[in-house]
Amino acid sequence: MKRNRVIAGNWKMNMTQEGAKALMQDVIKWMPKNLPSDVDVVVCVPFTLLNFVNDMIKGTRIKLGAQNMSWAEKGAFTGEISASQLIETGVSHVIIGHSERREMFNETCETVNKKIKYALANNLTPIFCIGESLEQFEKGETNATVARQVKDGLNGLTEDELTKVVVAYEPIWAIGTGKTASPQDAQNTIAFIRAELLKNVAEQMPILYGGSMNAENAKDLLSQNDIDGGLIGGASLKAHDFLCIAGSTI
Ligand code: PGA
Repeated sequence: MKRNRVIAGNWKMNMTQEGAKALMQDVIKWMPKNLPSDVDVVVCVPFTLLNFVNDMIKGTRIKLGAQNMSWAEKGAFTGEISASQLIETGVSHVIIGHSERREMFNETCETVNKKIKYALANNLTPIFCIGESLEQFEKGETNATVARQVKDGLNGLTEDELTKVVVAYEPIWAIGTGKTASPQDAQNTIAFIRAELLKNVAEQMPILYGGSMNAENAKDLLSQNDIDGGLIGGASLKAHDFLCIAGSTI
C-alpha cells in the first residue's frame, strides 16, 4: 500500500467566521482541478469554526481537522474536547503534540501518546508533531531529539495502528519565523525518521515537513524523496499561498 501525501493547513488561533468564509470560498474556488488523487488536503481550524467550515467544504475534496483533542472520552474535563465531539462536526484529522502545545500548555510525550491512541481508537487520523529546538539543532541533537519523541509518542502502537498515523517533522526554530530548514536537512531528518525509527511500516506512513513552508519554497521541499507533504501555518491563511503549496504536489 502506497502512502498518501498530505497538505494540511494549521490555522492556529486565527480567524472568525468572516475571514474563514472569505478564505475557504477562495480555496474551494481555485483548488487545482488536476491535484493528484493521492493528496489529502486538510484544514485544521479552531474548534469554534469546525461546523462552519464543515458546511462549506461539503462536496469538495477538502478534509477537516482539529488542532488538539483530549485523551479522555467524556466527563469532568473543563475546557477539553472529546473525539466524539470532533467527529460530530465532520473532523477526520487531529493535530497532536504541536510544539506550541508542548511548550506553552504542558503537553508531554505521555499525554501525546495517550491522545494518539485515543484518536486511533476513534478512527481519527492523528497528525503527530515532533521537532527539535534551536539549541538542540545547533548542538547537533536533531536526530536524538526526534528519536526520543517518536519512541515515546508512538509507544505501544501496533504496526496496523502506526500505518494510520501522519508524522509532521517541524523544527521549532522554523515555525513562524520565516526560517525554513533547507530541503536537504529536512530530507535527511525525515529519511532518518523513516528508516531508523519507523522501520517495518515506514513506507506506509506519510511524513510531512512543517516550519515556514510557503509558496516559494514548497516545490523544493516537496520534491524531496521522503517528504510527503506539509503542515502549514501562516501560509495556510492566504488562499493563494496555500493553493500554491498544494499545487506543488502536481
Ligand atoms: P508556520 O507554522 O508554517 O507558520 O511556520 C507551521 C506549524 O506550526 O504547523
